Formats: sequence, C-alpha cells, structure tokens
Amino acid sequence: MNILHITDLHFTLDKQSGAVLFPKKRWKKLISLVELRSKDEPIDMIAVTGDLTSHGEEAEFEKAFKYLKRLTKAAKVGCERVVFCRGNHDADGEMAHSEFTHYEAFLKKFYAGREPVLFWKHQKKGKKSGKKLLLQCCCLNTCTETSLLFFDHAVLIREEFEQLEKFKEGAYGIVLMHHQPEVIQNQELFEEMVNSKKVRLILCGHLHPTETRIFRAGNAIVVNGIALSPHLKWLPAGFQMIRINSEGKLRVKEIILE
Ligand SMILES: [Fe+2]
Repeated sequence: MNILHITDLHFTLDKQSGAVLFPKKRWKKLISLVELRSKDEPIDMIAVTGDLTSHGEEAEFEKAFKYLKRLTKAAKVGCERVVFCRGNHDADGEMAHSEFTHYEAFLKKFYAGREPVLFWKHQKKGKKSGKKLLLQCCCLNTCTETSLLFFDHAVLIREEFEQLEKFKEGAYGIVLMHHQPEVIQNQELFEEMVNSKKVRLILCGHLHPTETRIFRAGNAIVVNGIALSPHLKWLPAGFQMIRINSEGKLRVKEIILE
C-alpha cells in the first residue's frame, strides 16, 4: 500500500491583486515526480492533512481544486482515492469556532457524488492466498476551536471517535488529523486513541517542520509531514511517500522539492 502524503498547501489569495499565490514551479515538480513514480508503483491513496488554503477563501479553494485534480491524474487515481482532513487555515473566519463553508463546498465539488475509499485489503505481491492486511482510515477534525488566530488550540472530539470503533478487529488503522499531537488540548483522548491498538499510523501537518518528523506515540507511529508551502521561504518544502507492506511494516520517504 502506497500513500502520497501532502500537507499545508496554503494557496493564498492576495487581496490587493486578486491573484492566488502558490509555488507553481514546485507544484509542477510534484506533479511530474508523482507521474513518474506512479508508472512503476501504483499510488493507493493521497492523504491531504489540511491547510489547503491560507484564509479559507473560495478563490483559494478553486486553485487548490485545479491542482489537486492534476495531481490525482498524475497519480492515476480517481477522486475517491484522495482523503482530506480540515486545517485551521481552511476555516471561513479568523476567530475560533468558525464555519468551514468553502472547505465543505470544495469537498462536494471534488468528490462529485462519490465517497472516499477508506478501506483496503493488502496482500503480498503474487500471492493469491494467505493472510491479508486490512487497512482502515479515518479523518479526525482537530479544528473545531482553531482558526487563523487560534491556530494551536487543537481539540479532539469524542463523537468523532465512533469512526475508530467501526475499525475492524486487527485492522491497521490510519488516522488523518491536521495538528501535531503535542498541541492537542485534551491529551487524555489522544492517549486513549494511541493506546487502543486500533490506530497504527497518524498522518498530520500544521507544524511545517524542517524535516519529516517520525515518532512513536503509544502503539502508533506519527508522521508529521513537511509543508508543501511553508510560511517561511527558507524552510524546506516537500512531501512524504509512505509504504506499508503486507506485514504492516512502515517505510517513510521524505521528498524535498526545493
Ligand atoms: Fe495549520
């Protein structure tokens, strides 16, 4: 199972000129790398862990839509293979408890009536019988109390954990959430999640680290990805290619774009 993990895309509307700013050259490079790679190895899932935009503006989502569609084409996957979670910058307003109107409209347009694939069966290449690895994915919203201004006030919501309860026994659980675990306010819920043995991999973003952070949290491994568009020009920009083999072994490759 191969996952392309991108995070913190930050398409940004320049209110003076009306133009949406984004690193075009970097996107072109990403798309051509993915196109090349998908020829040798199929990409099963594209995980996008939030902050598609900078201000939750419609024009920003429109540009994100265009480029994410190009990316899915390059990865040779349908829209249902792309899984999103919302980021604090995707909210409508600058204050906490903002709505996500444009984000939700974006999702509706992106999936065009389809549902994202959140369940996979993985078997060793060439083997038709034997043990299969089941993988299951869910997206947790950590942004109900965050926004542009309250960017680190991440909260996990108990009701969303019902998704985890639906995970099949023994399945390899993958969670997408925007914030890195350290800034989650209700740590007891995070602890419960990573000790549950249901979640094996957590993909997140938000921090814009200088390199892909990979660390253990309870029974899970956290991959805190490099931003595709970091706020600071001198920070590296890139993405992650993640492979989970049929035994559930994980390999994370960091790819720097510039
Ligand atoms: Fe963020």
